[in-house]
Amino acid sequence: MTEPVLTASGLSVVHRTRAGDVHALSDASLELHPGEFVVLVGPSGAGKTTLLHVLGGIQEPTTGTVQVGEVELTTAPEREIDRVRREDVGYVFQSFGLIAALSAEENVELPLRIRGADPAERSARVAHLLERVGLAAHARQRPGELSGGQQQRVGIARALAGSARILLADEPTGQLDSHTAEAMIELIASIAHDDGVAVLLSTHDPSVRARADRVLELHDGVLRAAS
Ligand SMILES: Nc1ncnc2c1ncn2[C@@H]1O[C@H](COP(=O)(O)OP(=O)(O)OP(=O)(O)O)[C@@H](O)[C@H]1O
Ligand SMILES: [Mg+2]
Repeated sequence: MTEPVLTASGLSVVHRTRAGDVHALSDASLELHPGEFVVLVGPSGAGKTTLLHVLGGIQEPTTGTVQVGEVELTTAPEREIDRVRREDVGYVFQSFGLIAALSAEENVELPLRIRGADPAERSARVAHLLERVGLAAHARQRPGELSGGQQQRVGIARALAGSARILLADEPTGQLDSHTAEAMIELIASIAHDDGVAVLLSTHDPSVRARADRVLELHDGVLRAAS
């Protein structure tokens, strides 16, 4: 077995609300390995988004640790966590999260600009990624001029722009028709299997489950391997 690219141990997230404590995540532990396509299932409110946010360094857990490579996200200095978010982890949001005023290629280029990559490297990388997601012919179009499936593919290309080793995708097919959703899962599975990226993808769709190397289930914040 390869070394894990991400190791999470004993993660819990407790929200203190006026109605009492909400345990969004309870003592969750997992490892993600290079090249595996792991699917996360669970009913609405089970804690899927919470878990993906914590693994991606977007949200701090109440307890527990997340190790990405050499960096332990809960104790590392802010600038190290920023680097992990920028370079090691790609995040695909359910709502696409593209910038409306920028073209497809400018959206994909954004993380590379933030990283300070030089213009020649940026344009080569962006062209490669748009080709990879089948959107080379649509590079100059803005999100509003693309279909939902095409926008989601721009989101995937952008998540991979920083050469991420880990791809976290939160219900990336939730807003797509079944045919487009299937093509998206095909693409994401190949990013794991052909490019060696560790993928964790949350979904409500039972057909996505069938494509997974491994399935994790969340119920009321409790994570376990699916049988
Ligand atoms: N800021 C918050 N304050 C209080 N409770 C919260 C907060 N954010 C999330 N929760 C609660 O944490 C639990 C897990 O939410 P989460 O968004 O992770 O679920 P989910 O599995 O992603 O659901 P869905 O499938 O609907 O997207 C829910 O019970 C939710 O109400
Ligand atoms: Mg969610």
